[in-house]
Amino acid sequence: MKTTSTPGVDRSHPLAVVVVGASGDLALKKIFPALFALYCQDLLPTQFHIVGFARSEMTNDAFRARVEEKLTCRYVPGQQCDELMKNFLSRCTYVSGNYDSSDSYRQLHKELEHIKTDAPENRVFYMAIPPFLFLDVAHALHDAELVSDEKEQGWSRVVIEKPFGSDRATSDELTESMRQVFSENQTYRIDHYLGKEVIQNLLVLRFANLIFDPIWNRNHIKNVRISWTENLSLQGRAGYFDEYGIIRDVMQNHLLQMVALVAMEQPVALNSTYVRDEKVKALRAVKPIPLGDVVVAQYGPGAVNGKQHFGYLQEKGTPEGSITPTYAAAALKINNRRWDGVPFLIRAGKGMSDSKTEIRIRFQSMPGNIFAQAAKGLPENELVIQVQPDAGLTMRIVNRVPGLGIRLDETKLDLRYSSAFEGAIPDAYESLILDVIQGDKSLFIRADELEAAWDIFTPVLHELEAKNVEPESYEFGSGGPEAADALAARFGAKW
Ligand SMILES: NC(=O)c1ccc[n+]([C@@H]2O[C@H](COP(=O)([O-])OP(=O)(O)OC[C@H]3O[C@@H](n4cnc5c(N)ncnc54)[C@H](OP(=O)(O)O)[C@@H]3O)[C@@H](O)[C@H]2O)c1
Repeated sequence: MKTTSTPGVDRSHPLAVVVVGASGDLALKKIFPALFALYCQDLLPTQFHIVGFARSEMTNDAFRARVEEKLTCRYVPGQQCDELMKNFLSRCTYVSGNYDSSDSYRQLHKELEHIKTDAPENRVFYMAIPPFLFLDVAHALHDAELVSDEKEQGWSRVVIEKPFGSDRATSDELTESMRQVFSENQTYRIDHYLGKEVIQNLLVLRFANLIFDPIWNRNHIKNVRISWTENLSLQGRAGYFDEYGIIRDVMQNHLLQMVALVAMEQPVALNSTYVRDEKVKALRAVKPIPLGDVVVAQYGPGAVNGKQHFGYLQEKGTPEGSITPTYAAAALKINNRRWDGVPFLIRAGKGMSDSKTEIRIRFQSMPGNIFAQAAKGLPENELVIQVQPDAGLTMRIVNRVPGLGIRLDETKLDLRYSSAFEGAIPDAYESLILDVIQGDKSLFIRADELEAAWDIFTPVLHELEAKNVEPESYEFGSGGPEAADALAARFGAKW
């Protein structure tokens, strides 16, 4: 979780944000709206400038029109918002160029003169581009003298998005090569799940509430299930997705981050080093997953809400005969005193019946239960942390049904963020970009954390590929393959 207690930045220091890949989906849908949201809340420095960079030819006006389309007035409705939008867009300019050309970035350098100041500005470089371009861009930025040395005044920070490599070796290679330009301290590896409110609340839930502390272990927890599902197809991204598959796209990063936050010990104190130290320790205790504890599958044709969908193999951009999984389930074992014997079951699937991300903590059954007869057939207590949609926390308990006899039923203690908290819930990118500007690294993936996460999945990924393991099949819009249900059942659980 975030370790900076109050939002706020050094507003006196000028800031330049360079968005490389500014014509793309991530930049337009997430980055510019998040920067605008920060601006509306007075969380950007007084002097700031945003430069969009990509190959597409665009005038400043055309660029601003594309950015404006995606801005929302969530924080400041009405006429004041129009005014703020106008001011914000006037600070956005665009440069078209080639990603590996230092000349293009020299031209971009000139744009930074829009910031009229004697003090050197701080710079954020946001790489909203496919990862194979990261290195070329980093070197060209360096050659154009845009990246300041750590000792100089005016810091430079780089933000990169997953996928960080495709296994331990390629990830290490990327880390090492990027270090030629940006030190670890200057590097912000984003996993946007860590910016989500409910995920940031996980450590608060665990370490600020006494009631959970004594029961958060193998003596009281039967299993942990973490599930990520989407009822969507690849929507034109099959070409990109096919290279990675669901394990690399979702499990190795988003799901393992959630595992780490559920499993980690309490950090020594609330600072980014201590928080990440504990996450690394938890991930290092996870045993590499054997092939027998993994199910991979691919969706076939099917329907969601009456709408027919192609199977993965019929999607535009999918290579013929691809065996890339669109679904995977795995059982993780954590080899430490707290978790020995507690299965962590994780699954991720596209083309499922619904879109939902949740963490379920299932407790043991009540020993010596005097209500055993009346409670027969009722499930054990469960804490459900719903990440999306409709962020919330639910505790499932056994309760007496009001009446004259003894009848028990399962009841929910339900906290819905939408009704419990007033005001807009910040988008994950708002929270994370603010952290980059503030220099709070607790929600970003450190290099050793990345190594530990890849060590869990690399052996099984290599084995799946070496053996050309054919994925199971499941219907688009279903609950996933039967083999995944069987895997969960083997560990005494149900998805
Ligand atoms: N979209 C999301 O919500 C999301 C979520 C999580 C992570 N990410 C990660 O964020 C990064 C950017 O994602 P995105 O969805 O915005 O990607 P994108 O739209 O595919 O690409 C961003 C921009 O990069 C340039 N580009 C794309 N393919 C290229 C190629 N083969 N060669 C050279 N330039 C190319 C294009 O700009 P020009 O043609 O104008 O140069 C494009 O507008 C990726 O690393 C992705 O994995 C994205």
